[in-house]
Amino acid sequence: MKWNGLIEHYKDYLPVTDKTPMLTLKEGNTPLIRLERLSEEWGVDLYVKYEGANPTGSFKDRGMVMAVAKAKEEGSKAIICASTGNTSAAAAAYGARAGLRTVIVIPDGKIALGKLAQAMVLGAEIFAIKGNFDQALQMVRKISETEPITLVNSVNPYRLEGQKTAAFEICDELGDAPDVLAIPVGNAGNISAYWKGFKEYHHAKGTKLPEMRGFEAEGAAAIVRNKVIEEPETIATAIRIGNPASWHLAVDAAASSNGKIDEVSDEEILEAYKLITRKEGIFAEPASCASLAGVKKQLDTGEIKKGSRIVAVLTGNGLKDPTTAMEAIEVKPTLIENDEKALAASLRAGTDA
Ligand code: F0G
Repeated sequence: MKWNGLIEHYKDYLPVTDKTPMLTLKEGNTPLIRLERLSEEWGVDLYVKYEGANPTGSFKDRGMVMAVAKAKEEGSKAIICASTGNTSAAAAAYGARAGLRTVIVIPDGKIALGKLAQAMVLGAEIFAIKGNFDQALQMVRKISETEPITLVNSVNPYRLEGQKTAAFEICDELGDAPDVLAIPVGNAGNISAYWKGFKEYHHAKGTKLPEMRGFEAEGAAAIVRNKVIEEPETIATAIRIGNPASWHLAVDAAASSNGKIDEVSDEEILEAYKLITRKEGIFAEPASCASLAGVKKQLDTGEIKKGSRIVAVLTGNGLKDPTTAMEAIEVKPTLIENDEKALAASLRAGTDA
């Protein structure tokens, strides 16, 4: 199949007019990978949607291509967003591609290194605040009301339109929706987008509706606790969000699909992070692994039934956050002499041990 990006491929389901530019970096069409060993061990049919294979390494490209194409169509010259990192990388890339001025506001010191590098190299204007994501979002929402600049956070409805295409891809590949869709929850846009996508395909193609199971980080679990978290904290910086903008949409997705918004601890996230790398060869950033951690948790509680077909969304690439990767893994390279005998001796010692 020739893949020309998701606006072209799913245009019948997207707000595309004959004036919408066919902007693309060939986002979408990401791998749906069956976890062979974990399926067997856990007694389920488990897949991951590997969104780290998108051009900037996260699912944000799906929403950003749509939002930036529409901004361009409407004659905008500039875009702005708040971000925990991935949105800013996507905005910087699609902003550059479309020739728009790109402004991003981030929480100082709380952005994974790879994401910051992307935004910097891609030429965005970056402002770091002594505050968190929720405060940055409030700031850019206000600015976009008074300045001639388009807001491209997920409160921009075109973002969810683009992101819903991941649900289409899952149905297209499996021939139906799964029983359970597990997904990390931060600002709660993505779970809302998937739910919209599954509902649209249900109406258009008769595919079923999955249970929507969303997972917040325990230290940022506003929806689970039903209260705004003023100072959210988690190792999964991508979802370090205490007042999700799409809160009510996420609650609706879970309630109307017989699913649940739940929480997972940093320990559970890191355990899933190591499990999926070591057992399946898949490297996803920590926040991504909240989905897999949640699957494990709810299989243990019996909320997810054995034998279920489950898709867990892995939202971002593991390379985004090298710092967490290096700290999570105690193993270090073994320093040896520049000599093959030293390597051979070392390998034999390893086999004996
Ligand atoms: N996973 C990753 C890797 C993310 O970057 C995000 C959100 C989420 C999950 C949560 O998705 O917000 O739609 O519920 N990152 C945003 C950002 C906030 O600025 O990059 P959500």
